[in-house]
Amino acid sequence: MTSKSVLLAAIVSIAAGTGTAALAQDIDTAIAPAVQMVNEKYAEHNLDIKKLFSQKCSWCHQGYGMRQADGPKLGGTDKSHEQVAKQIANGKSPMPGFKKQLKEYEIQALADYIKALPAN
Ligand code: HEC
Repeated sequence: MTSKSVLLAAIVSIAAGTGTAALAQDIDTAIAPAVQMVNEKYAEHNLDIKKLFSQKCSWCHQGYGMRQADGPKLGGTDKSHEQVAKQIANGKSPMPGFKKQLKEYEIQALADYIKALPAN
């Protein structure tokens, strides 16, 4: 192991030992109904909404949309489904637009998911 990876391992084990795991579990519980609803609705596409969200959105929207980070918390947004879908497609600086990387059903599924998230 290099000294860098030792340091990283130490940070990871500290984080795991201080309630981060419990918090992640709370988030999993909070988002579970939204995840299930969207995955069932888009079953014909074999959609995995958590995977899609973590690949495209999680670097700015933490906790699968339940925690504020570089981007705002998404659960409980004031925006309508249509406004949410539009923002995902076109972006709004500094958020990039995703219409070139995502299929239309993926944008709709992300909007369904966000609107199904609890506010807390
Ligand atoms: C580079 C960082 C970044 C990425 C990646 C990103 N966002 Fe955002 N997002 C932001 C920022 C910053 C805002 C706030 C912009 C504003 O409205 O002023 C935002 C706002 C939003 C809003 C509006 C929330 C509201 O209530 O106004 C939605 C919905 C949203 N993002 C969804 C997504 C989704 C879905 C993805 C993945 C496909 C994504 N974002 C990826 C940074 C990002």
